[in-house]
Amino acid sequence: MLSGKKIAVLMGGPGSERAVSLATGNAVLRALLGLGLDAVAVDVTSANIDLPTGTNLAFNAIHGTFGEDGTLQKRLEELGVPYTGAGVESSRIAFDKNLAKAAFVAANVPTPRAEIIDFSKGPRLPSFTAPFVVKPPREGSSVGVHIVRNQADAEAAIADAAKYGNEILVEEFIEGKELTVGILNGAALPIVHIAPPDGVYDMASKYPWLSGAKGSEYFCPADLDLETTLRVQAAAVAAHRSLGVEIYSRVDVLLDSQNRPFVLEANTIPGMTETSLLPKAAAAAGITFPELCKTIAELSLQLRS
Ligand SMILES: Nc1ncnc2c1ncn2[C@@H]1O[C@H](COP(=O)(O)OP(=O)(O)O)[C@@H](O)[C@H]1O
Ligand SMILES: [Mg+2]
Repeated sequence: MLSGKKIAVLMGGPGSERAVSLATGNAVLRALLGLGLDAVAVDVTSANIDLPTGTNLAFNAIHGTFGEDGTLQKRLEELGVPYTGAGVESSRIAFDKNLAKAAFVAANVPTPRAEIIDFSKGPRLPSFTAPFVVKPPREGSSVGVHIVRNQADAEAAIADAAKYGNEILVEEFIEGKELTVGILNGAALPIVHIAPPDGVYDMASKYPWLSGAKGSEYFCPADLDLETTLRVQAAAVAAHRSLGVEIYSRVDVLLDSQNRPFVLEANTIPGMTETSLLPKAAAAAGITFPELCKTIAELSLQLRS
């Protein structure tokens, strides 16, 4: 169904995740071209998107602000161009950790206990004590995320997170395994276990080539018993559904020492280079990278045209 269709791979974007997005976009472009499809790169540098005439589908490879938060999706709907992945509303909700938290709680998706601190009413401390995690709600790639292990560091961490905006999310700290679950067409892919070198999955261990730090190790399928695997996958699917996400996402989950899953977030524009986590999960299910790109494009075109 994609033959004869012109696919514009939107990449880069004006946000802070531009470099990672270019890597995703170029990998997707190569995969689509390799399948003999009519795909072109569109480097997006501002909110004005210059789409080639006759574009039948925009493949969205723009992570973070603008590309992942519903803004680009809204623009493409105004232009009448079908696009891949989550729609306007589901993108907006999934991208905002405060809105997503409310959706998870309402749908009984297991997620760390949390509260929102509104700095416009003056600084204050959360009702629970350290350890806890402080997050600006609309950033990705661990930007502004602080793990507060000692109560003495609470004030400084909260003040730093507040630099990104007035409302910050404070979450109970979950000690455990870092997992991520790809969701494709409503179903969970094999679980990826991320083992960071120093126990914290941050900017340095996520993108070691940017910092020279030691990278994380990845295990897929994760070495978990069947019951735990199914529990984690069910939590991830429930999270994806509770946000109304279309087509695909990658849901971050922590697994505590009692094998209880806690959903952190759903990423609606996850990294899509050949070595990224969603493609790793797809590979473990026997889906090659080009097949993954093609499936996302086909399902999206079906949904939106
Ligand atoms: N409640 C929590 N307990 C323990 N670690 C956490 C918690 N929340 C986040 N983290 C750590 O911080 C990382 C980033 O958090 P996440 O909510 O996924 O935001 P993002 O990936 O958008 O920066 C997680 O992958 C995890 O390592
Ligand atoms: Mg995350």
